[in-house]
Amino acid sequence: MPVGIDKINFFTPNMYISMNDLALARHEDPNKYLIGIGQKEQSVIPVTQDAVTMAANAAYPIALDDKDNIDLIIFGTESGVDNSKSAAIYLQNLLKLNSNARAFEIKQACYGATAGIQMAREYVTLHPDKKALVVGSDVARYGLNTPGEVTQGGGAVAMIISSHPKLLAFEGDSSFHSEDIMDFWRPLNKTEALVDGHYSNNIYVDFFQKTWQNYKLNNNATISDFKAFVFHLPYVKMGIKGLRSILQEADDKLQTNLKSEFDFSKIYNEQVGNLYTGSLYLSLLSLLNNSKKLNSGDRIGLFSYGSGAQGEFFAMTLQPNFSKYNNSDLLNSMLKNRKQISISQYEGIFNSWTNSINDNVQFDVSSDHARFVLSEIKNNQRIYLERG
Ligand code: CAA
Repeated sequence: MPVGIDKINFFTPNMYISMNDLALARHEDPNKYLIGIGQKEQSVIPVTQDAVTMAANAAYPIALDDKDNIDLIIFGTESGVDNSKSAAIYLQNLLKLNSNARAFEIKQACYGATAGIQMAREYVTLHPDKKALVVGSDVARYGLNTPGEVTQGGGAVAMIISSHPKLLAFEGDSSFHSEDIMDFWRPLNKTEALVDGHYSNNIYVDFFQKTWQNYKLNNNATISDFKAFVFHLPYVKMGIKGLRSILQEADDKLQTNLKSEFDFSKIYNEQVGNLYTGSLYLSLLSLLNNSKKLNSGDRIGLFSYGSGAQGEFFAMTLQPNFSKYNNSDLLNSMLKNRKQISISQYEGIFNSWTNSINDNVQFDVSSDHARFVLSEIKNNQRIYLERG
């Protein structure tokens, strides 16, 4: 019985900066950011959005019809809003989901949503009449004037995992690898991540190689079994480095095809930046919505990486009629309707995030048009609003 992604949706807030502007403000050659890093734009996350609201905004359109069947809600994030209460409970309440459900949060850096969909896969395999809602939602923050600044961003991807999925089914066994590594982390007293940037790049490629080689052995597979590979994209160039590390296994024609599918899979990410847990799935969505060369039955390889570190490689197959269920119009208009802001406006918004950990603050939600917003923190409780 096929089990996999039945629906998928993405949300990012309505403001962005251009990487050209950021490079000029930081006295860097714009080509370093545009070509060397591979990013064009970066979403700016206002203080009225957090991991919970972004997840609710992403999940709302796809969870509406399945409210009664969802009894597993898994929230992958590394930008949690509470050290104890899970973001999944807030999400369940905001979306008015069935209360006869298991709802919890998973953390392992950018790997959380993959842990979530793999758990959901096993649950739905045992209970084919049930559905799971899995989200990856994060704000990627490194700090102003840091090398990581060009790789910031934020947003959420939500997925419904079901039997007989409309879009993609899991195929074969995953291969995974974990090891205690200090490449990227965020101590409890910090709102920005700490990172050993070049080391993290090397570990990423190393974990990709380890999991890919094991996947081939365990599944008796070769590179020619794949139509495309999608990667966790902390920034676009990272995925290019991953792909390059296996291209020599393919003949010339397949190399050309894999590079061309990669180009489709980066279109959304290069406009949004890093989503941490959601990045791999935004890249998958970008491939599905933008490539005209995909056919049902095609196999896609997915590489998930969460610093610290955990890697997983797995495969999914496009289902019959998948293209009928792909609707890129809403997503494209969300990206197109974002407002470009200046670097000084972005710096002001970035610094205002200190308020998001203060008590008794009210936020001006008038310029945030999202359905779900954070309006207030009162008595150390976050007050969320839904606008119709
Ligand atoms: N024109 C074109 N290219 C240029 C250029 C120019 N004028 N100037 C520099 N470049 C190229 C460089 O050659 C380099 O390319 P390669 O990587 O192919 O060699 C690229 O631009 C970046 O240059 P630097 O390495 O000098 O950049 P940097 O030292 O300022 O930092 C970074 C880059 C390490 C990625 C930094 O942005 C960072 O720390 N980012 C956060 C960490 C990160 O994203 N790590 C990824 C793996 S960890 C992970 O995946 C989990 C997660 O989500 C965080």
